[in-house]
Amino acid sequence: MERTMMIDQAKVRVLLLESIHPDAVSRLEAEGYQVEALRNALDEAELIDRIPGVHLLGIRSKTQVTAKVLEAADSLVAIGAFCIGTDQIDLGTASRAGIAVFNAPFSNTRSVVELALAEIIAITRRLTEKNELMHSGVWDKAANGSHEVRGRRLGIVGYGNIGTQLSVLAENLGMHVSFFDTADKLALGNAQRCSSLDELLASTDVVTLHVDGRPGNSGFFGAEQFARMRQGAIFLNLSRGIVVDHVALREALTSGHLSGAAVDVFPKEPKGRGDEFVSELRGLPNVILTPHIGGSTEEAQADIGDFVANKLAHFVHEGNTTLSVNLPSVALPAQAGMSRIVHVHVNMPGVLAQVNSILAEHQVNVEGQLLSTRGEYGYLITDISGEYSDDVLERLRGMSQTVRLRVLS
Ligand SMILES: NC(=O)c1ccc[n+]([C@@H]2O[C@H](COP(=O)([O-])OP(=O)(O)OC[C@H]3O[C@@H](n4cnc5c(N)ncnc54)[C@H](O)[C@@H]3O)[C@@H](O)[C@H]2O)c1
Repeated sequence: MERTMMIDQAKVRVLLLESIHPDAVSRLEAEGYQVEALRNALDEAELIDRIPGVHLLGIRSKTQVTAKVLEAADSLVAIGAFCIGTDQIDLGTASRAGIAVFNAPFSNTRSVVELALAEIIAITRRLTEKNELMHSGVWDKAANGSHEVRGRRLGIVGYGNIGTQLSVLAENLGMHVSFFDTADKLALGNAQRCSSLDELLASTDVVTLHVDGRPGNSGFFGAEQFARMRQGAIFLNLSRGIVVDHVALREALTSGHLSGAAVDVFPKEPKGRGDEFVSELRGLPNVILTPHIGGSTEEAQADIGDFVANKLAHFVHEGNTTLSVNLPSVALPAQAGMSRIVHVHVNMPGVLAQVNSILAEHQVNVEGQLLSTRGEYGYLITDISGEYSDDVLERLRGMSQTVRLRVLS
């Protein structure tokens, strides 16, 4: 990995995987970048082959950006996750290499919420079963087991961007809402906070998971949690596949303990269109299975494409890291006629003083400067006017704390 980068804007190479929205392609092409857009994800070996020489990588949730991929990424400055989750990226290694990671934390929130609501109504009303019967020629008008959602209690596990918006819309439908979150969260509307997951499971008619994919959440919802849910309750997971034990879910459904479920995310998902989907949950009439489409609406995809492509372009031009997932957040308005030095470094006392003494020794005039730190790393933008010698860059690069140096002008 080159520690000093001076990218010629006309030679920026972009690799976009997993059918990223055309709006992102045109946004990046409009910058003059060379964009290659592929339909499918690439596996580790394929990506290691393709990544050398690429400055910007765009992925969605299937591509694993591992430490080995990042080792092979000799020119990479930023990764755009055109989705919400970023646990498919080795963020620690990306930070150590000074590579910024951006995502679209809010763009598809509404789409996930609308799908969850549609599924809650469909299962509560037994629409999947009625629909299947009709298609096989059976006219069954029986109302037993079909309910309105009005007045029923919804339990939201994970009260973040999606959980909170679902809370508001579900109340508008007349549902009562309880939630459980490991972090302190403000209850919206009339929602009630539960002090434990068990309290939520024992008191709600519908349990829906909207937790993030942190490693500790792997397998956190299994036989014990299903057993604690109310008899006849409904279960939804539109968050991350790894959080639920699907063998235990099948058992809870076939035993009749749960009356239905909707699952959008799976521990192992097919890599591309046409690959077989394998799951313990196939073939159950009261289960809605969807191929990880919670956030897949045209509205959301266009918004994500635009949002992340903008972040990447601004990062290349200005070095600003607002809303970066892994690097400290710095936004210094660009000034015409200035050179900008971006210095990613290990966060230790005295780095700023050392950078400024190198600049002062070389009579470099600092016109603007902004530093932010986050955990182990610091991110410093310095705008300078006038000429400067190569020795300045040599000295900055030679500092033991320097992770990466980029020069933008
Ligand atoms: N199905 C899809 O297509 C789709 C689309 C978008 C997002 N998602 C997924 O939905 C999930 C939620 O997204 P978001 O934007 O609301 O995330 P978020 O980070 O805003 O919210 C997650 C919340 O879950 C809480 N949490 C984490 N672990 C918990 C636990 N074990 N118990 C209780 N609370 C816990 C966190 O404190 C946080 O408040 C993510 O996993 C995301 O990847 C799926």
